[in-house]
Amino acid sequence: MKPATKFIHAGAEPDPSTGAIMVPIYQTSTYVQSAPGQHKGYEYARSQNPTRKALEDALAIIENGKFGLAFSSGVAATDAVIKLLNPGDEVIAASDMYGGTYRLFSKVFERFGIKFIYVDTSNAENVKAVITTNTKLIWVETPTNPLMNITDITAIAALAKKAGAMLCVDNTFATPFLQNPLDLGADIVMHSSTKYLGGHSDVIQGALMMNDQDIRDRLYFLQKSCGAVPGPMDCFLVLRGIKTLHVRMKQHCENGKAVAYFLRSHSKIDKVYWCGFEDHPNYEIAKKQMSDFGGMMSFTLKDDNMEAAIKMMSSTKLFSLAESLGGVESMINHPSSMTHASIPREERIKNGLADGLIRLSVGIEDAGDLIEDLRQAIG
Ligand SMILES: Cc1ncc(COP(=O)(O)O)c(C=O)c1O
Repeated sequence: MKPATKFIHAGAEPDPSTGAIMVPIYQTSTYVQSAPGQHKGYEYARSQNPTRKALEDALAIIENGKFGLAFSSGVAATDAVIKLLNPGDEVIAASDMYGGTYRLFSKVFERFGIKFIYVDTSNAENVKAVITTNTKLIWVETPTNPLMNITDITAIAALAKKAGAMLCVDNTFATPFLQNPLDLGADIVMHSSTKYLGGHSDVIQGALMMNDQDIRDRLYFLQKSCGAVPGPMDCFLVLRGIKTLHVRMKQHCENGKAVAYFLRSHSKIDKVYWCGFEDHPNYEIAKKQMSDFGGMMSFTLKDDNMEAAIKMMSSTKLFSLAESLGGVESMINHPSSMTHASIPREERIKNGLADGLIRLSVGIEDAGDLIEDLRQAIG
């Protein structure tokens, strides 16, 4: 199936009891059994729910995987992946990634004896240099939040395979429309479904997709045992979001390109981070593994101080100053005080995340209107 057909039909079967074309929201905590153990495959809603099942089937299909699992948030999905590990195991993780992932690794799981080694994964040699026999997982985000660094998934998957480690790719920024990490050798794909999969800024949710039955079974066990499951209403919303992912993403990409080139040509803008520029350090890899470059980007002002950045971010009328991204509406964000505030300042600066860095999630409004909004805010 071509993407447009896949996104619309993934997981969508008429409801067996009524023929309803849309999967019903099975708002129930449990299922009646005719005798102990005699049931229709559903026992208790933490373990199984038909709305969640439809979504999980769809998640697998859109990432070209065999299995999908839905979680109550993106970080809950990440949490489940790390719980596959044991004390003493090592994880190689990207030094530039979503601040909440860093917080979970450094503030929660390090206490349980899991060791995290942060390297710039955009150069596979850096990963190769720190792999040991204790490496059990490589965690990569590509493109990264917020600096749009690109990691070569195929190269890192080969290193992981050789070392007997798993590779998990956070594919939130690219979405399954632009990039399919399982096809490139990753073992697990993770999404904050809160973002582009949901697409309408009305749900918090996470997803994991994989091909390996054993990894799926272990993650399902954690989903059920730790209990970070999404409610049926939220599953319905993400299912509905997926149906228009391809249409929205095409517009995000088109608008993103227009905004990125506008920013780059503006006399008051210093650096623009967007992986569609031909002089982006890993442009060739982005072109190889992504079908387009998306609507996420970040930039700094030439007048690089907090005051100027805050003034600009507070002056937009269409771009809403907010955490999160991937909705139909455009958003502007200040990573160092918002989404990445949990990363210590010296770590942030070392990895290139300046105090004055501004992130944009370019929505699907009229690109000309968005550019005018930014022009007046930059002043
Ligand atoms: C790249 C990335 N991964 C993971 C997450 C965490 O997802 P959630 O907020 O749904 O828990 C986010 C949230 O911003 C993100 O941007």
